[in-house]
This record gives sequence, structure tokens and C-alpha cells, in this order.
Amino acid sequence: MPKRPFRVLEIGVGESARKLVDLSLKPSHAAVEFVGVDARHVRYGKYLREKGLSLKPKNLQVRSRANAIPFLREQPDESFSHMYAHFTLEHIDYAGRQTLFHHVMRTLKPNATFAIVEDAPHSRQLKSELEKAGFVVHARRISSQELLRLGSEHSQLNVLEHIRAMQLFNFLPEKAPKWLKGLRGPKTRKEFEDSMVKWYRDVLRKKLMAILGNNSLEGQKAVQQILLDIPLYWSQKPFVVIRAKKPLKKS
Ligand SMILES: C[S@@+](CC[C@H](N)C(=O)[O-])C[C@H]1O[C@@H](n2cnc3c(N)ncnc32)[C@H](O)[C@@H]1O
Repeated sequence: MPKRPFRVLEIGVGESARKLVDLSLKPSHAAVEFVGVDARHVRYGKYLREKGLSLKPKNLQVRSRANAIPFLREQPDESFSHMYAHFTLEHIDYAGRQTLFHHVMRTLKPNATFAIVEDAPHSRQLKSELEKAGFVVHARRISSQELLRLGSEHSQLNVLEHIRAMQLFNFLPEKAPKWLKGLRGPKTRKEFEDSMVKWYRDVLRKKLMAILGNNSLEGQKAVQQILLDIPLYWSQKPFVVIRAKKPLKKS
């Protein structure tokens, strides 16, 4: 039996497990056990030292160099009160996501939530996969400011990338003056937007096709849906928070 009644799991904690560490250090969370898993080597000790701490919080467990799917397979039914994953699901292929969602559903307590943060183009596809897995799903697009308040490492990188692109976008005119003729690259907001969408689509197609791997028809359709929704990124609300709730058991 777990030592603490409330267990929270982060899937894909990143290099320093920054968000999970911060949560585990809150005095009001002393009764919660924070569990993290990541496929790569997690160096949360460095982050603790940066914060002036030499000991790991007692309520923090991080499984480093571990795939979340076999990890979750080993976990007992209804053993987590909450789960979250920030910018992790886009790295897991279609078949993997379906297996993951099955185990998230099995290991969450009834009425508990799996909260996901991703780039907005993933929203529609993930929502439909989670609904198929039996969750009650609510998706809300958010701005860069809102994302930063959520506090993961990768949020900062994603926000900076988006701000830089938006700064250039706002700098460009609606209509190009004659003296800009002959200059290479986009000269109007529209041209810049088109080039960004094209760039993002190329990057994403390569990334998604590379991780897809399993060649299934459903997997290919999922990629097409995400590609179609790329223009959502090019907006004031380029990210999404998806809250997938496990329904209460029918009596
Ligand atoms: C873009 S990073 C995001 C990290 C962190 N959530 C954040 O927002 O800063 C994605 C993380 O997911 C991890 N990851 C990808 N696939 C995984 C899997 N199947 N199991 C566990 N971790 C995985 C990667 O190793 C990486 O650290």
C-alpha cells in the first residue's frame, strides 16, 4: 500500500523535474506523494542544490530513464489522485498513446483528472483519443502568460519561441512599401504568417512521421488532423490545457 493517501504522477518530468520538485516542496502538499517518470536521465539533484537544498523531499520519487508505459503497467488500479503531462504526449506515437491512456484510466481514482498541456494543434486529436478511452474531456486554449504560470521548464522555451515570432509579426506592415521590394524573406504580416505555418508544418510532419513508426491507418489520420490544425499555433492562444476526467463508477 502507498505510504500517503494522495499520489500525483507527472509523465515526462524533463531534465530537472522542476515542476514536480516545486510542488513537492509546498508545505501544504506534505501529505501528497509526488511521483515522476521520464525516459531520459533526470538531474533533479542539481535543481534542488540551486534552491539551496541538499536532501530530496521525502514525498518525492522520480523514476529516471524509464518509459511511462511499462511504468504505469506496474501500478495498481486506482492508485493515483491526479496525473499530468506537459509537452510529453507529442513525443509518444499513436499506438503508445492509446496504451498509455488505457493505463492512465485504470490507475486513476474515479473522478480524478489527467491534465495535459500541449501546443494547440494537438488539441482536437488528443481530445478525441481521450474521449475514445472513456474520459470526460474539456479543452481550453491558453496564452503564453497563462502557460508561464504553469511553471514547467519547457513552457519557458516554448513561450520565448512564440514571443520572438509574434514580435517580428507585429513589426511587419500589412502592405509592403515599395522600398522593401527585392529584400529576401517575408515582407508583410501575411507572408510571414504563411512562412511560419509552412515552417511549422514541415518541422511537425518530419517529427510526427519520425515518431509515428507503427504505420497504422489510425496513426496516419492522427498526424493529418494535427497538421490541419497548425494555424491554431499562429494566434494569441497557441497552447492548450486539456483536462480529462475519469468518470465516477455507475452504481
Ligand atoms: C519536451 S520535454 C517536456 C518536459 C517537461 N514536462 C516540461 O514541460 O519541461 C518531453 C519529455 O518527455 C519525456 N518522454 C517522452 N516520451 C516518454 C515516455 N514514453 N516515457 C517517459 N518520458 C517520456 C522526454 O524524455 C522529455 O523529457
